[in-house]
Amino acid sequence: MTQYFDTLFINANLATMSQEVATPYGAIKNGALGVKDGRITWVGKGKDLPKYEANTVRDCKHWWLSPGLVDCHTHMVFAGSRAQEFEQRLLGTSYADIAKNGGGIISTVTATRAASEHDLCEDTWSWACVSSASGVTTLEMKSGYGLDLETELKMLRAAKYVEDTGLLRIRKTFLGAHALPPEYAGRADDYIDLVCKEMIPVIAAENLADAVDGFCENIGFSPVQIRRVFEAAKKHGLPVKLHAEQLSNQGGAKLAAEFGALSADHLEHIDEAGVQAMAEAGTVAVILPGAFYTLGETLKPPIDLFRKYKVPMALATDFNPGSSPIISPYVILNQACILFGFTPEEALLAMTLNGAKALGLEHETGSLVVGKSADLVEWPIDSPAELCYWMNGTSLAPNRYYKGKLL
Ligand code: NIG
Ligand code: FE
Repeated sequence: MTQYFDTLFINANLATMSQEVATPYGAIKNGALGVKDGRITWVGKGKDLPKYEANTVRDCKHWWLSPGLVDCHTHMVFAGSRAQEFEQRLLGTSYADIAKNGGGIISTVTATRAASEHDLCEDTWSWACVSSASGVTTLEMKSGYGLDLETELKMLRAAKYVEDTGLLRIRKTFLGAHALPPEYAGRADDYIDLVCKEMIPVIAAENLADAVDGFCENIGFSPVQIRRVFEAAKKHGLPVKLHAEQLSNQGGAKLAAEFGALSADHLEHIDEAGVQAMAEAGTVAVILPGAFYTLGETLKPPIDLFRKYKVPMALATDFNPGSSPIISPYVILNQACILFGFTPEEALLAMTLNGAKALGLEHETGSLVVGKSADLVEWPIDSPAELCYWMNGTSLAPNRYYKGKLL
């Protein structure tokens, strides 16, 4: 029987990242991949291709084809810069002290509140184009620099503006519990009331978020406060994720696991019981080397414990103007290997399939498997490890396909 393809890739080395393919990177050398109606409809060895007709045949000349990259944790919607704080930190003031003195997240909140929706949309779009040009086809964006309903909605609409262009897949996360806004100083529980009783219901009703996140930290919110946020999210049918154990161990990862969170993120200070709880709940560990590097942290996340308990590890840029002014996935892949001892295969899995899992999208994207969206990148490289090795990888100028369409 003849198979019909819109696009057929031939002479490709496939890094399928599929756990069903028992080679490193799920590699299929001299492979072929067929696409129909935006979906992958055939994957295998070129020599096993059935009889076919294809509108376009793309000869990959033995370059590597990988799933589109997934950046599952960013704060891409923001106004202003924090270069001044970067200088302050280099002169010896800590991230936490800057935050306590009204800087940090709050300085970006001030700039973001003041920005027009139009400017915020255009800036977010510009950043998203950079991300897409680097091979990212799925990108998460958090709110959390508004901390009032109006600005949180403005941020989520800016994320939706990018989503509606169809350039790449966007996941919008509501992060109202990111920091205490100055007008609620000394009244954190009242602010959590606002998040739970006003913000989450409106955002859920307007369908502006795919998940709810929080910052569980001594400069953020306590586990008791985050529990209330998670309960409100659950009531409105939204999955949760959490910034947990970044600067201290608050038991956030355990709490996230208790709520079946998609992910717990950062995790430098997590203990073994927290890792075990995540394993039992199937919660993904999102590791963010960009923030670790930028803040000059010294305690590394316990990668061996995640391996021991088989907690899937994802990697993301955490792109934001404060703790991780890094949009390049290649820098993150490299940092994960050099700073945390990821193998290149673990790193690539972390920015494809496990990134998708951290967003609840593992059945839609993240590996080259029949039935998934045809989100693909064609890389002019000889081995997949090069994606972790060339730190300034944008010069690789990959050909990118989102839902089967060449970008
Ligand atoms: O993931 N930890 C809290 N949130 C961000 C930092 C945001 C900021 O500093 O503006 C993070 O590192
Ligand atoms: Fe973050």
